[in-house]
Amino acid sequence: MSERIISPEQENFEEAELDRSLRPESLADFTGEDHIKESLQISIEAAKRRGEALDHCLFAGPPGLGKTTLAGIIAKEMGVGIHITSGPVLEKASDLAGLLTSLGENDILFIDEIHRLGRVIEEYLYPAMEDFRLDIMLDSGPAARTVNLPLKHFTLVGATTRTGLLTGPLRDRFGLHYRLDLYPAKDLQKILVRSAKILNVGITDEAAKILSSKCRGTPRIANRVLRRARDVAEVRGEGIIDKEVAERTLKMLGIDERGLDPMDRKILSTLATHFAGGPVGLGTIGASLGEEPDTLEEVYEPYLIQQGLLSRTPRGRILTPTAYQALHLPVPKGTQAELDL
Ligand SMILES: Nc1ncnc2c1ncn2[C@@H]1O[C@H](COP(=O)(O)OP(=O)(O)OP(=O)(O)O)[C@@H](O)[C@H]1O
Ligand SMILES: [Mg+2]
Repeated sequence: MSERIISPEQENFEEAELDRSLRPESLADFTGEDHIKESLQISIEAAKRRGEALDHCLFAGPPGLGKTTLAGIIAKEMGVGIHITSGPVLEKASDLAGLLTSLGENDILFIDEIHRLGRVIEEYLYPAMEDFRLDIMLDSGPAARTVNLPLKHFTLVGATTRTGLLTGPLRDRFGLHYRLDLYPAKDLQKILVRSAKILNVGITDEAAKILSSKCRGTPRIANRVLRRARDVAEVRGEGIIDKEVAERTLKMLGIDERGLDPMDRKILSTLATHFAGGPVGLGTIGASLGEEPDTLEEVYEPYLIQQGLLSRTPRGRILTPTAYQALHLPVPKGTQAELDL
């Protein structure tokens, strides 16, 4: 079976190391997303001039587009410390209290997967975000009392792949909202060239261009594909990633001319053959593929939708006529796809 190039979780330690070495450390080094960079630049500059903490900041968007990277960049550009945690890790109010009280003035608290924060913890966060104080409940029953703990000013940076799951009150407490979208090929091409330089491998413009349209609009995947291409270049070629190496790499990874990988094609063909093109719910597709519905929604679906292969309707997911073309199948009679033709 071909390698899962887009599996959401870090594959191994080496991969995590590589991710770190390729991670841009300044706004200037962060490729693409120009409107976000510009807005952040202004807010950071203004906060620094006033000597204040940056407004709380929320990043939303599919995995691998640079949310964690941007949190790190903000800390660097602000010249403050960053404390990193994630929604599911913060289980008890005391965990949160410990974190918040350890923050230095204007520091960043980065909460990844903030949509997975427990309700109770979330409610403790409200006064912390708004008034920089923590209201802690001590004891329970008749002896219960609240203690107000003042906090240093800090910036909460939240990241989520699922904005829809964030509660309104939490969302509203972020002053800065940024939505990251899949990157256009021209930006990914720049990222590939930059990463190749860091990895110390040559890449031709032609090869960078070929690879850039085959990595699902996602910098993390671009870096993974690049690493595979570097292996191919070292073993088979002359240590430089050229057109031939790029094409060989894509073939090896099972990525086709539309940039679809084996799992994408499996999703599409399952929809076509088992569910008559839909509409069908994600849970049902997931059960049939042995994949978590959340993973389908966060990791695979954004690219399939962007490519016009899948659409989301209130009754479920449906295949588009283009998807049948991609699968080399005729559009069946009487389906939504036929009506859409
Ligand atoms: N704009 C960019 N320019 C250059 N490299 C980038 C950019 N965005 C992301 N990357 C690269 O992609 C990798 C993944 O980015 P990052 O970890 O920030 O994604 P994420 O949005 O936090 O993903 P997840 O939702 O899975 O946590 C980084 O290690 C970095 O090397
Ligand atoms: Mg992240």
